[in-house]
Amino acid sequence: MPNIVVVGAQWGDEGKGKIIDILASDANYIVRYQGGSNAGHTVVLKGKEFILHLIPSGILHRGKVCIIGNGVAFDPMAFLEEVETLKSKGIDVTKRNLVLSEKAHVIFPYHKKLDSLREAKKGTTTIGTTKRGIGPCYADKVSRCGIRVLDLMDSKNLREKLKFNIKEKNTLFKYLYNSDGVSFDEIYAQYRDYANQIRPFVGNTTIILNEAIKKNKRILFEGAQGTLLDIDHGTYPFVTSSSATSGGACIGTGIGPTHIDKVIGVVKAYTTRVGEGPFPTEFPSDLINKIRNRGKEFGATTGRPRRCGWFDSIVVKHSVLVNAIDEIAVTKLDVLDQMPKINICVGYKYRNKVYKFFPPDINVLNECRPIYQAHPGWLKDTNQIKKFEDLPYNAKRYLNTLKKLLGVKITIISVGSERGQIIRWGAKK
Ligand code: GDP
Ligand code: IMO
Ligand code: MG
Repeated sequence: MPNIVVVGAQWGDEGKGKIIDILASDANYIVRYQGGSNAGHTVVLKGKEFILHLIPSGILHRGKVCIIGNGVAFDPMAFLEEVETLKSKGIDVTKRNLVLSEKAHVIFPYHKKLDSLREAKKGTTTIGTTKRGIGPCYADKVSRCGIRVLDLMDSKNLREKLKFNIKEKNTLFKYLYNSDGVSFDEIYAQYRDYANQIRPFVGNTTIILNEAIKKNKRILFEGAQGTLLDIDHGTYPFVTSSSATSGGACIGTGIGPTHIDKVIGVVKAYTTRVGEGPFPTEFPSDLINKIRNRGKEFGATTGRPRRCGWFDSIVVKHSVLVNAIDEIAVTKLDVLDQMPKINICVGYKYRNKVYKFFPPDINVLNECRPIYQAHPGWLKDTNQIKKFEDLPYNAKRYLNTLKKLLGVKITIISVGSERGQIIRWGAKK
C-alpha cells in the first residue's frame, strides 16, 4: 500500500473514522494533519464505540505508530482526557505508539472563551462552531503569536509568550466583550502541569515521517472535517479554520507532495452538515427526522443534531477536483434502505442559469435550487451484504450513477458502523 490521504468530501462526519480504521490494518503510520478536538471520528468494534477527537483512529490497531502532526490545533486537556478514556477501554497508548509534533500549536482557555464570545456576539451570522477554540488558535498561529508544543516544554518561553497573549486577550475580553479576563497564574500553572504529562509523547514528527518514507513504510493521513469546511475551498465563512483538503496533509506534517500516492474521498450516500451555512440539498422537515434517526445523525463531538439532505454531486465533484481524489468510499448506504425514492442533485438552478460547478460565493449558493435526478429505492436491508454483486439491483444502480456522475471509481462501500460491515468494489478476488 502506498501513502494514502483520506479526506472528507462533504461537510464532515462522512465516516472517515470507520474508513481509516479499516485502511489502518495495511499501514505503519496513521497521521492527523489538521483540525483539533472539533473532530469526532467514530469506530465501532464488536458493539463498543470509540470516538476519537485528536488521536488518530489507527490507535485501535496494535503495532502502528500514530502521529499528531504540526498542522493540528492541539488541546492538551482534551488530549490527556482522550488518552485516559482509551486506556480505560483497554487500548494501549504510550510514547511508542503515539507521537505529537513539537511544532503543533496549543489551544489555551482564552481561545475557547474567545470562540464562544465571538459566536454569541455575531447573533444571526453565527457560524455554529464547536467552541473548541479552533478558530482563535489558528488565528494566533497566522498572526505569529501562537504558542507551540515546543514552547510549552520550556517554562521561560511559555511564561513570556503567555504573558503577551493573555494581556492582549484580556483587553479584548474587557473592552470589546464586556467580560472577565483570564488569569495568567492559573493558566501558567495548569499548562506547566500539562507539559509534564505530555512531554513523553513529544517528538520531531517531520523527521520521523520522512525517515519512514525512506524505509518504504506506509503512511495513512487522516483528514478531519470535510472539503466544504476547508478554509480556502469550503463555504467561506461557514467553514473551519484549517486546510481540510488533501494539500493540508503536506503542510500539516512536513512531507512533500511527491510522497503522496493516492487520495481517497469519503462521502455519505446522502449529505449532512452541522452548524450554519448554505446546504442546497437540505431535506424538508418531514424527511429530516427519518434519516436523522435512522442514521443516528447527532454530532460525535457536540451531540448537536446534524442537518440532513440528498447526495449532492456538485459538491462532491468540487471535492474530487480540489483534492485530486482517486477513489471514493461511500458510507451509510444502509441508511437509505427504506427510502422508496432517492434523489441525487446533478446541477443547480440559479436565477435563469444552470450551474454544473460549485459557486464560490455563498450569496449565489444560497439562491441555488437543486436539480434532482430521481432514483427508485431498493427497500431491502443491505447491512449484512459483503459483495457488490449481492446488493439489491437498485442499490447497484444508485452506486453506478454516483460513479458516473463523479467520474471516479468507488472502491469501498460501507453498510453499517461495525468494522466488518464493508464491501470492496472491484477488489481482485
Ligand atoms: P467522521 O467524523 O467522518 O469520522 O464521522 P463520524 O464518526 O462523526 O460520523 C459517522 C457516524 O456514522 C458514526 O456514528 C459511525 O459509527 C457511523 N457509520 C459509519 N459508517 C456507517 C455505515 O456505513 N452505516 C451506518 N449505519 N453508520 C455508519
Ligand atoms: P469531523 O472530523 C462536522 C463544523 C462546525 C462549524 C464549523 C466551524 O468529525 O468530520 P470549528 O469549531 O471548527 O471552528 O467550527 O465546522 N465542524 C465540523 N462539522 N464534522 C467535523 O469534524 C467538524 N469540525 C468542525 O460544526 O459549522
Ligand atoms: Mg465526526
